[in-house]
Amino acid sequence: MRVVIVGAGAMGSLFGFLFYKAGKDVWLLDNHPGLTRHIQKNGLRVEGISGNHNVPIPITTNVDDIEWSDLIIIFVKAYDTPQAILDAKPLVGQDSVVITFQNGIGNADAIVKTVGKQKTIAGTTAHGATVLGPGHIRHAGTGETVIGELNGKRTGRLERIRAFFESAEITVNITHDVSSLLWSKLLINVGINPLTGITGLPNGALLDFKETREIMHGAVNEARGVVSCKGIQLMYEDPLQKVDSVCQATCGNISSMLQDLRNRKKTEIDFINGVIVREGDKAGIETPINQVLTHLIHLCENL
Ligand code: PAF
Repeated sequence: MRVVIVGAGAMGSLFGFLFYKAGKDVWLLDNHPGLTRHIQKNGLRVEGISGNHNVPIPITTNVDDIEWSDLIIIFVKAYDTPQAILDAKPLVGQDSVVITFQNGIGNADAIVKTVGKQKTIAGTTAHGATVLGPGHIRHAGTGETVIGELNGKRTGRLERIRAFFESAEITVNITHDVSSLLWSKLLINVGINPLTGITGLPNGALLDFKETREIMHGAVNEARGVVSCKGIQLMYEDPLQKVDSVCQATCGNISSMLQDLRNRKKTEIDFINGVIVREGDKAGIETPINQVLTHLIHLCENL
């Protein structure tokens, strides 16, 4: 099985490393020539809970170097998904599968537009990683990785993908309800990402202050209203308890949105809190906290 990871940011590099360490046929495909040259020359450096490593993982900006792939994993930022799947399209053969583990809502739809529903699988991962420098990441935490077919069926290919991941020590669960999975993850990002981005705090510290706790819970409560109006069942009973528990479990993490702001990159706010505002508008539900968080993050992007 050849796996190609599109996007050599923190999470793409981490999954690439885990497959490489397990002896898999893995490539990174990234459209940043500087980063690609750096990893080609110096290898990919990984530290953190998996230990200290420097691996000569294959990486390219040119899809023709790779030729084909059974499994394509999209790890670019949500706003880059349409371009990333177009770039990777030459690798998609008759039996290839494309998986998205990205944050936010809309990635699976963008992939489906280019390769079709049959070739697309959606998922989430609770692994955490931080970019420390070019081609240098920290594996910050492990957690559940979940995959599912868009039509909810439990297929043989899901089992094969699970076995492949598990042979690289990535534990995988299978879900029948990817919509619930993606929206359940969204609510966590709605609570944690913009507030860590605005305050500069690590995830766990959001629980240390009455103000951040209240705003986080307010944003998640609005999102819960939108989700329930859409008839989507969450994977947990109490979203507020869940977001608190993720803050605790990832207490030392620098959220992806805070990393983006620190690296002066565009954030995924329009695919996270922005989704709650847009869906709220459609359903006639007010979402003032998500609206303010979205505005503030846009402001931070331009400071
Ligand atoms: O985007 C992130 O940083 C992660 O999805 C999460 C769960 C907030 C942990 O840092």
